[in-house]
Amino acid sequence: MGNFVVIGTQWGDEGKGKIVDLLAEFADYVVRFQGGNNAGHTMVVNGEQFISHLVPSGIIQNKVCFIGNGLVVDPEVLVSEINYLISKGVKVTPDHLRISEKAQVIMPYHKSLDHAREARKGDMKIGTTGRGIGPCYEDKASRVGIRFLELLNPERFAETVRTVLHEKNFQLKNYFGVDEVDPESVIKEYMGYADILAPYIADTSVEIMMGIMAGKNVLFEGAQGTHLDIDHGTYPFVTSSSCVSGNACCGSGVGPKDITGVIGIVKAYTTRVGAGPFPTELLDETGDYIQEKGAEFGATTGRRRRCGWLDMVILNNAGRLNGLTGIVITKMDVLGGLETLKICTGYEYNGKIMETFPADLDVLAQCKPIYEEHPGWEEDISKITRFKDLPLNAKRYVQRVEELSRVPVDIVSVGPGREETIVINNPFA
Ligand code: GDP
Ligand code: IMO
Ligand code: MG
Repeated sequence: MGNFVVIGTQWGDEGKGKIVDLLAEFADYVVRFQGGNNAGHTMVVNGEQFISHLVPSGIIQNKVCFIGNGLVVDPEVLVSEINYLISKGVKVTPDHLRISEKAQVIMPYHKSLDHAREARKGDMKIGTTGRGIGPCYEDKASRVGIRFLELLNPERFAETVRTVLHEKNFQLKNYFGVDEVDPESVIKEYMGYADILAPYIADTSVEIMMGIMAGKNVLFEGAQGTHLDIDHGTYPFVTSSSCVSGNACCGSGVGPKDITGVIGIVKAYTTRVGAGPFPTELLDETGDYIQEKGAEFGATTGRRRRCGWLDMVILNNAGRLNGLTGIVITKMDVLGGLETLKICTGYEYNGKIMETFPADLDVLAQCKPIYEEHPGWEEDISKITRFKDLPLNAKRYVQRVEELSRVPVDIVSVGPGREETIVINNPFA
């Protein structure tokens, strides 16, 4: 038992939602600590699919879920997600969902600016999700952001919106040449969300800590992935929050001494949505095979995900940055049917071998992956629930990842369903 952080080791969409849902059975609290509705986490329970963008994936297991101070939250999306979950029979009440009073509120002008900036960048665009994430984090850092706390204070909220919009509207109209945002209609709309969300808003840092002191187990649910991290990712092709495990503390208001372990989610191959370098990307029929078999379309934007081989330079970078204590390999079933599998063990750059991930994207763009080859397997492994029953070559692939990463593999996922899972070691046990 203890408190575990689940994070993505690659560029997001590793299957964090599925694993958080699975492990939530053993937790009391599930806490999101960064990002916003740029995330799309998928859970499949008894054949029924649930996608969450803001509400922690533990909600399906009827756990107490927290939206931490580190998030940027679009209240319109949150309200519709609560309604969506309720319509699917999930219990979402202020007893099950708590929102930090310090979480930042995504405003309509954040979304307008996100779209306008991307349009202006043309070919150089980042390929953001267009949800206003970057502009909202910018305002937080510039100290002109609006927190949930302000939503509860109508006068202060209205005053801030009017003041901030002086500058934002000038920029929207005169620099980007797009529509201005009317402050009065925004104030009215957002006061409607405030009425609905008020009972959920709390000092979540205190509530989580009271739970920990009472012996509750906490699962911290990361969004995005290590290589989309604002500091450590492929900057500027990253998101605007810190996605590494250390931010579980800052983004939820919990100290590091209360973290027991860090579980890194590793897709058995690599995917990426949006622009930016991707050394092991497959632009051939093998890439198409993985994309189709893995149904690699974004859960948030529906965009086709770029696919490539597993990259150990990336995984080892994530191992160090997050202090991984365990790994979960997901989507192993997708690799079935490929005669030969490749794992990238290093990069060749300027005739030299590089085993660490470069910060300079010009260097990264010139890195050539060095591959080792492994024989694949033909069998459908999606019904296998014990490691020893996997085909020999699948076992060897898992063991090789463990050897190369020097982190134990705790779980292997062989299908989207909760039960399509091989648990080797339950971290909560
Ligand atoms: P997240 O953002 O990390 O939570 O991942 P997403 O939900 O965006 O993308 C992962 C996709 O893979 C979802 O459609 C999951 O239902 C699916 N998935 C998760 N684990 C497995 C697995 O082991 N096998 C297969 N075939 N699909 C999986
Ligand atoms: P989950 O939690 C994959 C990517 C976008 C874009 C970049 C910046 O489902 O793994 P943003 O809208 O955040 O400013 O976009 O980050 N991105 C993700 N890619 N999975 C995600 O979340 C992502 N969230 C953001 O595609 O390249
Ligand atoms: Mg996703």
